[in-house]
Amino acid sequence: MFKPDLLLNRRILITGGGTGLGKGAAQKFLELGAEVYICGRREEVLQATAQELHQRTGGRIHPLRCDVRDPAAVDEMIASIWAGGPLDALMNNAAGNFLARTEDLSLGAFQSVIGIVLMGSLHTTLACGRRWLAARHHAAVLNITTTYTTTGSAYVVPSAVAKAGVHSLTRSLAVEWGNRGIRMNAIAPGPIPTEGAFSRLLPRPELEEAAKQRNPLGRFGTVEEFANLAAFLLSDASSYINGEVVTMDGGEWLQGAGEFTALGRQLTEAEWQMMKPRKK
Ligand code: COA
Repeated sequence: MFKPDLLLNRRILITGGGTGLGKGAAQKFLELGAEVYICGRREEVLQATAQELHQRTGGRIHPLRCDVRDPAAVDEMIASIWAGGPLDALMNNAAGNFLARTEDLSLGAFQSVIGIVLMGSLHTTLACGRRWLAARHHAAVLNITTTYTTTGSAYVVPSAVAKAGVHSLTRSLAVEWGNRGIRMNAIAPGPIPTEGAFSRLLPRPELEEAAKQRNPLGRFGTVEEFANLAAFLLSDASSYINGEVVTMDGGEWLQGAGEFTALGRQLTEAEWQMMKPRKK
């Protein structure tokens, strides 16, 4: 659907780019001509991904070990990238999440998820943003949130509060930095099968079937669908979109929110007939 040079020579950093959605986006950006930096905590995973994606696309990809929770490590990584030239785009994708009853969680559990998701996004955004503003360099940021940033969600409270913060960061900086050439958008993805997320959030296979039934489209999203949207939002094709959070979940959260949706699906044919107006 895109011209092959849509992201030609764009220098893009993807946090958490070694696996899952981040890896899928990295492949798409490489296919569209970008030079991609991926960072994460595990050196061997990053190396393997970089090698695999280079072989698959022929593109330029650089693995960088960095825990985004550590502001000094982030600044060091960003400085090392800038030594070869400025980035043109940043995708804050690194995340942590697990299902848990909130009353069982330690403070460390909150700190870990909020540290990766909210503080991690803030660290990279500030490190890049300050450099972009100083150099008047135009750039785009894409944050990855969730469909429960505005509704909240039981059993994933550290993630919900952290992602709500990222949602707000997106909209705030879209306004504060927009007039200086920095666009800031987000994707709120619904369920897309990746090992990292599904092993933590859907622990039994039969729960996957139930999750599909909660979705109007009756299926999960694909990494390809996610990567296409990410490429669009980081490219000039979306140059007037700023401060937007694009929900990509097949309509799942709306189905959960509609008061009569579940009831309507439980009614029998006879009951639907009974509710029609009687002929006079
Ligand atoms: N339920 C409750 N608490 C948990 C937990 C779980 N399933 N997993 C970890 N924790 C707690 C730990 O007990 C620890 O708390 P403590 O310091 O009070 O003991 C804290 O979280 C940090 O755990 P640790 O094992 O040191 O993890 P980490 O900080 O290296 O890793 C996580 C971060 C916990 C988010 C880990 O799950 C992870 O690495 N996830 C990355 C991938 C991911 O989550 N992908 C899904 C994205 S949707």
